[in-house]
Amino acid sequence: MDLVPLIKEVDVALDRYLPAESAYPAEIHRAVRYSVFAGGKRLRPLLTIAGAEVFGVTLARALPAACAIEMVHTYSLIHDDLPALDNDDFRRGRPSNHKMFGEAMAILAGDALLTRAFELLATETARWFPPKTVVRLVAELGRAAGTAGMIGGQVVDILSEGKKVSAETLDYIHRHKTGALFACCLRSGAIMGGARRAELERLTRFAEKIGLAFQVVDDILDITGDARKLGKKTGADRERQKATYPALYGLEKARKLADALLEEALAELAPFGDSAQNLKALSRLLVCREA
Ligand code: IPE
Ligand code: IPE
Ligand code: MG
Ligand code: MG
Ligand code: MG
Repeated sequence: MDLVPLIKEVDVALDRYLPAESAYPAEIHRAVRYSVFAGGKRLRPLLTIAGAEVFGVTLARALPAACAIEMVHTYSLIHDDLPALDNDDFRRGRPSNHKMFGEAMAILAGDALLTRAFELLATETARWFPPKTVVRLVAELGRAAGTAGMIGGQVVDILSEGKKVSAETLDYIHRHKTGALFACCLRSGAIMGGARRAELERLTRFAEKIGLAFQVVDDILDITGDARKLGKKTGADRERQKATYPALYGLEKARKLADALLEEALAELAPFGDSAQNLKALSRLLVCREA
């Protein structure tokens, strides 16, 4: 899979799906676009597209759901960086949203992205898919973003700062704050493609493994990574005494776990054969990364 043109397609679609910078009130649209177009890796849209491809769904049809998930992800980053949460000043290689636009506008920019994501799903996916499918996509994203998903994970992450947490709690944090949205990507692709229940469950297991591996690698890179390449500050987890895999198990064991999870995830894709080739390539990329 040639990622560069695909990422370009995602960016063009995001641009189309977001209000122009000049649209009144311009301040909020500037803030929204500042974070969306700051150069994220676009892994979630890529995963959505590659997952949909397994079931023969074309790029054009997968783009609205892919972009809706990227909007939710970008909102989560804007809020994650706020002083009340992780208090991080850099994101995607530039000052965090609140550093540029102030806390009030950063909170509102997150809210704007979250709500626009659902509007987008309800309108643009309806151009291609029947109402039943649209409703399922809306429900998936709602669950993945909410207290049973990403927000649940963020809550326990914040409550665990400075505490020694159990392996189970750490697992909960990572599977929810990061894994839930990954699962949403793959499940959305499968739902658009009319996957059978067993296939949907298989892709969900794949996504949960890859999502956990991704967050374990994020924790590792916070210690060993290069801030310039990552586009965000390193060492922040230790400073805030975050519950992380390297903190609980050590770097070496954390790395081994991420690699083992990748292998387990890849094994789940075996029955899909060549149709999952891009998905396999993408999984390797996101676990074996430096940024
Ligand atoms: C960062 O996600 C937040 C985590 C869940 C670890 P990414 O590393 O995918 O961030 P972007 O989208 O590339 O900026
Ligand atoms: C973030 O986890 C997960 C989100 C839901 C945003 P982190 O707090 O570890 O992400 P970074 O390291 O700030 O990107
Ligand atoms: Mg955080
Ligand atoms: Mg953070
Ligand atoms: Mg992190």
